[in-house]
Amino acid sequence: MKESKPALSRTQAMKLLRAAAQVSRNAHAPYSKFHVGAALLTNTGSIITGCNVENASYGLTICAERNAIFHAVATKRRTFKAVAIVASGKQLPFPCGACRQVLAEFGTPDMTVLVAPRDKLATYKELTLGELLPHSFKF
Ligand code: THU
Repeated sequence: MKESKPALSRTQAMKLLRAAAQVSRNAHAPYSKFHVGAALLTNTGSIITGCNVENASYGLTICAERNAIFHAVATKRRTFKAVAIVASGKQLPFPCGACRQVLAEFGTPDMTVLVAPRDKLATYKELTLGELLPHSFKF
């Protein structure tokens, strides 16, 4: 976990986490019952969100983080300062490997990643994308 000065103030972090918590309420997760929300903070200060959307054919499920990134790209936002990831359940919702790689397509290694359980947002942890995915695949 990042111990140096946080890139986002606590107020900014909580705002982004609240946006992720809110969108996690829209998750379609009848199979896992695990509701995830992701909120991206762009370089211009706007927030773009996504939730997980599951499918009866399980492998077609899309994670919240990728949904948020795809939503952002589709609406011409490609530069991000931070992402907040919030989920139901007690554990910290670290992004899966596939989502780390997709975040790395658009985010730099110093991009801030905030993770928190939905019912304890104030206990969030702050990391960087580079810590989560060193040596990401580049083409
Ligand atoms: N999930 C996410 O939304 N993000 C992740 O980084 C990992 C997992 C979702 C996918 C699925 O709907 C549920 O969590 C259980 O795997």
